[in-house]
Amino acid sequence: MDKLLEIKDLTVNFGEKCVIDNVNVSIFAGRVTALVGESGSGKTLTALASLNLLPEAALIKKGEVLFRGQDMLKISETEIRKIRGKDISMVFQEPFTALNPVMRVRDQIKEMLVIHKNIKKDELDLRLKELFSIVKLSEDTGFRYPHELSGGMCQRVMIAMALSCNPDILIMDEPTTALDVPVQKEILDLVRQIQEENNFGILFITHDFSVVNLMADDVHVMKEGIIVESGEKQDVLSAPKHEYTRHLIDCIPRLGDERKRFPIQD
Ligand SMILES: Nc1ncnc2c1ncn2[C@@H]1O[C@H](COP(=O)(O)OP(=O)(O)OP(=O)(O)O)[C@@H](O)[C@H]1O
Ligand SMILES: [Mg+2]
Repeated sequence: MDKLLEIKDLTVNFGEKCVIDNVNVSIFAGRVTALVGESGSGKTLTALASLNLLPEAALIKKGEVLFRGQDMLKISETEIRKIRGKDISMVFQEPFTALNPVMRVRDQIKEMLVIHKNIKKDELDLRLKELFSIVKLSEDTGFRYPHELSGGMCQRVMIAMALSCNPDILIMDEPTTALDVPVQKEILDLVRQIQEENNFGILFITHDFSVVNLMADDVHVMKEGIIVESGEKQDVLSAPKHEYTRHLIDCIPRLGDERKRFPIQD
């Protein structure tokens, strides 16, 4: 398997509090690595560390993030700016807040292309056309503002932006949590289909094992900053070793079943 990025022994603190504890995660070409855990378990911070975007107060105690032989945590800001958005791009949870409300969505995608690629006008138009077709949006959609689009359409725009420079790695932080279930499934299917055609690696963050089930190849279960269980999806889903993993799997809503909740601790 072609390993694209490796987070090695990463440990991050805020003051005395350890929020990422000796985390090891790798991203592979053509595969989806899912990071699953409940709120506050350290998923987003792990993703941000991959792009060297940790908040200033975060203290990196240990570890490295290896991408093309370089440690993302050590390279210069100039170097990292060339990588972010181009080689590694990220799609966030809330498409509405991530998009600029006063700019037509086509122009927002265009901006990504202009920033990272020295691209001629006719090539630019061609690439925009192509991107709209990849995410299955009509080109007319591009001339609208974010508030004129549904959540699912906004998320397609975000995905087009993230894919605009043909990244090696796509990081998706709860990309469909804000969407209705049928729209979620549409977007997830679309992402997998695009991945099959392009072979990039995905780091996929979610708290929802039903999404893991749809999306993942490899799974890391995270609890309080620690990866408590890792493995291929089939193995983790069919024979979870850790009690916490079993709890998360029990939270998968089943048809005709009342949605089970996390057991409340005393
Ligand atoms: N800037 C910060 N300052 C202090 N603590 C922080 C900061 N950012 C995150 N944390 C803490 O780090 C822990 C992990 O946060 P993180 O955002 O990675 O969780 P998460 O798994 O993404 O949760 P969610 O599912 O709610 O998005 C949490 O306990 C959070 O309170
Ligand atoms: Mg998060």
